[in-house]
Amino acid sequence: MKEEQLLHLLDSMTLEEKIAQLVLLTGEFFDSEERSIGPKQKIGITQDVIDMAGAVYNVFGAEEVVKIQSNYLKKSKKGIPLLILADIIHGYKTVFPIPLGLGSTWNPDLVRKCMEIVADETSASGVQGTFSPMVDLVRDPRWGRVMESTGEDAFLNSVFSAAMVKGFQGERLDTSNRSIASCVKHFAAYGAPEGGREYNTVDMSERRLRQDYLPAYKAAVDSGCEMVMTSFNTVDGVPATGNKWLLRDILKEEWGFEGVVLSDYAATQELILHGVAEDELDAARLAIEAGLDMDMKTSVFANNLLELVNKGTVSESLVDQAALRVLRLKNKLGLFEDPYRGASVEREQVTLLSENNRKMAREAAAQSVVLLKNDKGVLPIQPDKKVALIGPYSDEKMICGMWAIQAEYEAVVTLKEGMKRQTAEASFFHAKGCDILEDYSVLGGMAKYLKTDTNPEEKEVYLSDAMQAAEQSDVIVLALGEHMFQSGEGASRTELSLPEHQLTLLDKLSLLGKPIVLILFTGRPLVLTGLVNKVASIVQAWYPGTETGNALAELLYGKRNFSGKLSISFPHSVGQIPVYYNEFSTGRPLSVSGRSERFVSKYLDAPNAPLFPFGYGLSYTNFEYSDLRLSHPSFSYGDTIQLSVDVTNTGEMSGAEIVQLYIRDVTGSVVRPVKELKGFQKVNIEPGETLTVLFIITEELLRFYTLEMEYKAEPGKFIAMIGTSSDSLLETEFTLLP
Ligand code: GLC
Repeated sequence: MKEEQLLHLLDSMTLEEKIAQLVLLTGEFFDSEERSIGPKQKIGITQDVIDMAGAVYNVFGAEEVVKIQSNYLKKSKKGIPLLILADIIHGYKTVFPIPLGLGSTWNPDLVRKCMEIVADETSASGVQGTFSPMVDLVRDPRWGRVMESTGEDAFLNSVFSAAMVKGFQGERLDTSNRSIASCVKHFAAYGAPEGGREYNTVDMSERRLRQDYLPAYKAAVDSGCEMVMTSFNTVDGVPATGNKWLLRDILKEEWGFEGVVLSDYAATQELILHGVAEDELDAARLAIEAGLDMDMKTSVFANNLLELVNKGTVSESLVDQAALRVLRLKNKLGLFEDPYRGASVEREQVTLLSENNRKMAREAAAQSVVLLKNDKGVLPIQPDKKVALIGPYSDEKMICGMWAIQAEYEAVVTLKEGMKRQTAEASFFHAKGCDILEDYSVLGGMAKYLKTDTNPEEKEVYLSDAMQAAEQSDVIVLALGEHMFQSGEGASRTELSLPEHQLTLLDKLSLLGKPIVLILFTGRPLVLTGLVNKVASIVQAWYPGTETGNALAELLYGKRNFSGKLSISFPHSVGQIPVYYNEFSTGRPLSVSGRSERFVSKYLDAPNAPLFPFGYGLSYTNFEYSDLRLSHPSFSYGDTIQLSVDVTNTGEMSGAEIVQLYIRDVTGSVVRPVKELKGFQKVNIEPGETLTVLFIITEELLRFYTLEMEYKAEPGKFIAMIGTSSDSLLETEFTLLP
C-alpha cells in the first residue's frame, strides 16, 4: 500500500479503531470467545478491542496463525491485518546457542547467518516479527538474563546487535517472506539492576549510560531495526516505559528512530507500582506522551486513551502518530497485500530443522564453546583412551536455554549421543551420577514443568553406576551445570556455585586420580574458583542448542579445534561483582608499584582480577604474537594509522584465533577505562604459519562522552594493545595530534 493510501486509511479510522491498533495481546485472547473469557476478565479488555487489536504474540505454527488471522479479518471492518510477533530470541525449531554463547564466537557473520535461519523458520510458521535481539549490556552474573546478552562490552555487543538485526531483516525489511521484523530490547539498561536482582532499580550517570549501555541499542536502530521494546526498569528515576527523555529525546530525536516502540509485558501498568502514575488513566497518559506506541498485555491504552483524548488531556495526534507507525510496519511487511506472509505448512515441512539449518547450528555451537583449562593436554581425547561420560547433563535434552520456547527437544542431540558417534562402544561408558538439582522448588513456578521425583534408592544407584563407570575408564568427562531454568527471566541468584550434590560427585570422582574433563552447562558464569584445581580441563558450554552433542563431541575428540573466547568475565568470587575488564584506573591502582601494601584499590580476601577474563579462551594449538608495529607514531583528525602484529601458530593443529585490539586513552577530560575493545579479527592459521593482522586506527575509534558530554576524540597519548585475551597483550603508544 502506498503512503497516501495508508494516511487515507488512518483518516477513515475511528478513534476506537486507532487506539485498538496500539494493543498487543497473546494468543489466548484470539481463541473462541468462550475460551477467552478468562484472559479478557483478567486484564479487563473487551471483545470489541480484541476484534480490532493491533498485534498478537506467541502464537505458533502456520495452521494456527492462518486460522487466527483469517478469523480476525472476517470481523475486521477496515481489513487491517493482525501483526504476528513472538519471542524467538536465538532459535525457533532449530535452536542456536544462547546469546552469551553466540557472543563467545566473536563471529558476527556466523551469528547473522544463524539469525537468517531463525527468520526463515519463524516466517514459515507465520510469525512476522520477533522480540529479539536482546542487547542489554551485562556485568553482573547474579542476574539471570545475562544468558540472553552477548556480554559485557559495548563494542562487541554493538557488532552482534547489528549482525542480528541484519540476520532477521536482511539489508532492509521488505515484503519477502523469509525476513522478519526485529525488536531490539530492553531499552534501556535493563542489564544493570542493583544487586543483580531481577526487575530492580537501575541507576547510573548519563555518561555511563551513553558510553556503555546505549551503544548496542543504537547499533540496532542504525541497522534498521523496526521495533524497540521498553524495559521494566527506571532510567534516572523514571521507568523506561514512561520516560520521555529516553524515548523521544534520545531514541526518536537524537537517533532518528521512526519505528514502533512497544512496552515489555504489562510495563504500562507497572508505572503505577513504580510510583510515577496514580492510576491506569495516568499511566496511559504518561506512556503515550513519553512515546510508547504499543501496550503489551494490559488494557491500559485500550481502556483509557479514549477518555484522555475526549477530555483533551492527550492530543489525538499522539494516538494518530502511534497508530500510523503500527500501520507502516504492517505495510512494510506487505500484510495488506498478504496477511499470511509466507505462512505455509508445506514450507514448514521443508524448512524447520532442515539438515542445512542443523549444520549451521552445529557450527555455531562449536564456535560458542570456550576451553577454559586443558592441563597436560588431556583434551583432545585420544582414540585409545576409555572414556566415562558422567553427570546430569551427560544425556540431557533440555540444553537450549530458557528462551527457546519453541525448541523441538526430541531433535536435540545430547552429549552422550554425540560422543557415541565419535568412539567405539567398548571405549565408552556412561552413567548419570546425579540429577541436576536435589530440590527443584528453587525454580519457582517453572518446577511444575519438570519430572523431579528421584527417590533415595535411585540416587544411590546413580552414584554407584558413576563410580563403576569411572573405574573402568582412563578419562572422565563430567557434564555438570545449573538447571536451565536457573537462568533467564526471573532467575537472579546470590550464590553462583554448582549445586552441592554435583560438587560432591566431582569430589568423589576426583579421588580416583583420573583426569577429569569438566563440561559446564550454564546460562551465566559460575564461580569456579573452588573446583578449578580439581579437574584437568574445563569446557564452558553454556546452552549450545539443538546440535550440542555433535558439536561438543567433535571438539572433545579433536575433530575440530576450540575457538571461543569469553564475552563476559568469570568472577573469582561473588563478592567481586561487578567485575569487568574495561574498568577505570582509580587514583590508587593496584598495578602502580611503590604503593603501600594496604592503601591501594584491592580486597583483603580476594584478587581484583576475575578467575577468567573477558576475551579469554584456549585452543588445542598456541598462537604467538610478535612485532607489534605502527605505521606512524601519531596522526591528526581525519587521518588514520595502521597497527599490525604477526601471529604464529606454533602448535600442531590448525585453529581460529580471535586477535583483539584494545586502546587506552591515557588522559581525558574525564577518566577513561584502562582498556577498551576497539576491534577484533577471527583468523584461521595453519600450524607453522605466521599471519600479519592489520588494524586501522581512526579518530572515530577514540571518541567518548567528554566532560562537556560531547561525543568526540580528544588529542593526546594513547596506548594500543593487541593480543589473545584482555589480560594478555602486546602494547605500543601513539598520539592523536590536536
Ligand atoms: C517478558 C520479557 C521480554 C519478552 C516479553 C514477551 O517479560 O521481559 O523480553 O519479550 O515479556 O514475552
